[in-house]
Amino acid sequence: MNYESNKHLVRFADLEYARAAFIDARIPGSHLKENYCIVGAGVSQDSRQPVHIRETDGFHLGAAGQPPGILNSLHSHRTAEIFMVYKGTFRIYWGPEGEHEALLGPGDMITVPIHCFRGFEVVGIESGFMFVVLGGDDCGGGVIFHPTILSEGQKYGLYLKKDKTLADTVIGDPVPEASELFPPLTAEEVAEFDNYSVEEMMKYVSLKADRTPRESAFTASGTFDCYHVSGHPDHDDDFEVKSNDGVSIYSYEIPEGGYVPMHRRSENQVLVNLSGDVRLTFSDPELMPILLGPGDTYDLPKALGVELEGVRETGYVYCIVHGDDVSAPVVL
Ligand SMILES: [Fe+2]
Repeated sequence: MNYESNKHLVRFADLEYARAAFIDARIPGSHLKENYCIVGAGVSQDSRQPVHIRETDGFHLGAAGQPPGILNSLHSHRTAEIFMVYKGTFRIYWGPEGEHEALLGPGDMITVPIHCFRGFEVVGIESGFMFVVLGGDDCGGGVIFHPTILSEGQKYGLYLKKDKTLADTVIGDPVPEASELFPPLTAEEVAEFDNYSVEEMMKYVSLKADRTPRESAFTASGTFDCYHVSGHPDHDDDFEVKSNDGVSIYSYEIPEGGYVPMHRRSENQVLVNLSGDVRLTFSDPELMPILLGPGDTYDLPKALGVELEGVRETGYVYCIVHGDDVSAPVVL
């Protein structure tokens, strides 16, 4: 098999970030944000953004890290944006002026509807880190910032150009001509974006503590709990969050000594481990097993079978699968 298993592994300790990934990166209160691209380049506007695995799976996986009180500014997306908190407490806010909010902690998830302004900050005393899934191989062409953010960013040397890259005058890029700049949304265009009450938005939130394990032939041949976190409203798996966003999310809770049976999926999947140590053993005996520690990510191609075994403390692994119409895993 022409496959190097280590090239699909991204260790938490090896993650590299960009500081000036977005137009708001130097606005006081929005600086100190770390933007990570783990699988795919996401919607980073920084041509110098480090990207760990370039090839995408129909979606991108990145991450955001920031200390308490630092704001990720109001913006929108044309495809899914799913936040999965790893560490710290995030205040997610949304609406045309960011007037609504909800708090998410480690293990919690939200899939934010498209065409809706959203942002976030970390609250409490601990720095926050969350994984972010963006739908589509091209993420819908990029990120849409609230017009106030574009003009504010320019005051601190960052200009968004029509090609959706940033001119960073602080590190020597020339100030773009007015004709080269990305046109900001008008007030009328902003008013057309959707608004959601807190009650409406909570339908898109899955709190870890509220999840219920599901039984299936897949779970019966292993010793783990499987949660159907987020997926298409019409899917047989009856996902807890129903969202037509092109991505289906499961989570596996694997006790020490427990295991998810050797299986294969028909779709690409990315595994993100939130806690414990989990050993991955592959269906190809030539591939060495890999130990996933907390925060580690594995990008698994659809042809390859995998078994997950809990080897230290309780493993909690998100399984992010491409597509809405996901087939049942085939136990090998
Ligand atoms: Fe975003």
